[in-house]
This record gives sequence, C-alpha cells and structure tokens, in this order.
Amino acid sequence: MIWRQVRRLIRPFVKWGTVLSLTIFSLAACSLVEIEDAPLTTFEPAGPFAERIDAIFWQVFWIAVVIFVVVEGGILLIVLLFRDRKGRKEPRQIHGNNKLEITWTIIPALILTVIAIPTVQGVFELTECDDDAMPVEIIGHQWWFEYRYPELGIETGSVLAIPVDREVCAFMTSADVLHNYWVPHLMGKRYLVPGQETTLKLQADEPAEYWGHCAEFCGLSHSLMRARVVSMTQADFDAWAAAQQQLAVPPEPDTPAAAGLKVFQEQGCTQCHTVDYGPDFAGTNLVADELYNGPNLTHFASRNVFAGAILPREGQTHADGLREWLANPPGVKPGSFMPDLDLTHQEIEDLIAWLDTLQ
Ligand code: CUA
Repeated sequence: MIWRQVRRLIRPFVKWGTVLSLTIFSLAACSLVEIEDAPLTTFEPAGPFAERIDAIFWQVFWIAVVIFVVVEGGILLIVLLFRDRKGRKEPRQIHGNNKLEITWTIIPALILTVIAIPTVQGVFELTECDDDAMPVEIIGHQWWFEYRYPELGIETGSVLAIPVDREVCAFMTSADVLHNYWVPHLMGKRYLVPGQETTLKLQADEPAEYWGHCAEFCGLSHSLMRARVVSMTQADFDAWAAAQQQLAVPPEPDTPAAAGLKVFQEQGCTQCHTVDYGPDFAGTNLVADELYNGPNLTHFASRNVFAGAILPREGQTHADGLREWLANPPGVKPGSFMPDLDLTHQEIEDLIAWLDTLQ
C-alpha cells in the first residue's frame, strides 16, 4: 500500500534522476582520469603508513555514505509522504518523544565511537617512530628541503634517498619560517617548526620515485617548494650512501670544469654552498657559513632534480635546467635567496661543466 503510493510519487523524478546520475557519473570519470597521473594523490599509498591513513579514510567514507543515503532517503520519503495536500489532516507530531530523542542521540554517538577508535589508534601509531628506524633530518628552508643522515654523515638537498621496506624516522625543523613536509604516497603531512623538532615516519614498499610538496604557505615561492623521495633496494641505498660519503674530486687544470670552479669561488657562491674537497684541497674555504645555508653541492650531479626539486622541468635536460637557473635564480623562483649574479654565457657553461664533475 505505502510502496504503491511512494512509486506514484517518485515517477516524475525518475527521468530527471537519470539525467542527474549520468552527469554525476561522467564528472566522476573525469576526476578519475586526473587522479591517474596526479603525482600528489593520497589515493595511491605506496607504503604501510600511507596505507594506514588510506584505510581509515575509506572506512570513514563508507560509513558516511551509508549515513548519507539513510538520512537523505529518509528526508525525501518524509517530504513525499507527508506533504501538504487538500483535505489532509496534520500528521501525528512527535516533538518531545523521549524514546525517539534518546535513540537518535545514541546512534550517532555509537557511530562516532566506531570512527574514533581506529582514528585515534592510527594517530598515535603514526606519531611514534620505532626505535630501530633509520634517522634522517629534514630542515625546511625558503624554498627547498635539506636532508641530513646523522648516522652516515651525509648532507644533501631536494632529493631524499631511502631504502625500501625500512622505517625512516625524519626529525624535522625549519631554518626560517613554518614549512610542512608532505609526500602523499608515503605518509600524511607534518609541520616543520623553527626552534622545535617534529618527527615523521616514512616507508616505501617498492623502489620508485615519489613527489612531495611543502604544504604550508611559507612565502613568495611556496608553490615552488617541492620534495622528491627516491626509494631503492638496501644494496642500492648502501652504494648510494658510500658514494655520497666520498669527497668531491677537484677538476683537471685548464678544463672548462676548472674554470667553472674558479667562477664558483670568485662569485661568492661559497658563502652559502658547501663543496667538500677535503682538508688537503688548495683553494678557498668551501664550507659554507651555517647562517646562509644553501644546498650542499658536493654530490650535486647525483641528484636528478634541483632548485627545490622544480628543475629541470618536464622534457628539459639537466644542463638546460641549470642554464635557466644560473641565468636568473629569482626569475625562476621569486624571492630566491640565490641572487642573479649577472653571469656571462661562458661563466654559466663553465659552471655547468664543473657541476657535472660533482657526482
Ligand atoms: Cu615551505 Cu611552503
């Protein structure tokens, strides 16, 4: 009886309902296509911590879907069944019904409890690093991320190398303003706070390259402050670390690279950038002042991206990326602390030849 009445009532809505659902489905298809090549999606977890967050998200999402359908369906049903019609008496009023009031207070409270248990558990488990996790230090700068490996004595920037299947515990801080470290395939976000230490767990299942981004507005070039994490097998990681621990090798005299090193020493680059040739190197001091810290360049050429992981651009060679950067850093990254040094074409080419020796 009621069902027949409902059917009669919803018939006119069916046509428009079909049109609406088709529209929603096509829009959903568009967004799915986008997600496939979005480097910053949280929907493709690639490690246990990101998976944990993803699992909690979907649990809550499906609970919300059921609630949405039940509540909206109930509203529609009530609107249709009890709508005002000629000659109809007012329906029975339920205001002040204690049983109903208690029921619809208890049900949401139970739902919230069901959601809160895995959420709170997850928050605590994802905050604490394991004792045997590999420590790295992440320091935020305007506008790039610096990485240090205290146990390995390595300092680098822009690209964080990690071994697969091993928990990495990042001890993070900032050299200037608030930043936020976010590599969505591997973990959620966490702040980098000047004068404080925050920790972040990272772990990857497979050798791959992951994109990240600073997730807190931190000045003019916040949108150009990216991060890259490269995960590799333990053997590859050990080889990488051994190479990073080597001193740089000075270029042969009378080569473009030697000319490039001279430009580096004479243009004031050493105020900010360190290149570790070791104590026996006969040249100016190439260990930068801690205050004006730019990326350590000792193994610059081993990094596939630079300048806050924004260069080289897609389809651009490493050398072309450097040409663009060295010609005018603040032009590439507004507000950059690396100044435009008015380098000549020849100086830039020599610098590129020299940077290429820093393997
Ligand atoms: Cu650093 Cu935004």
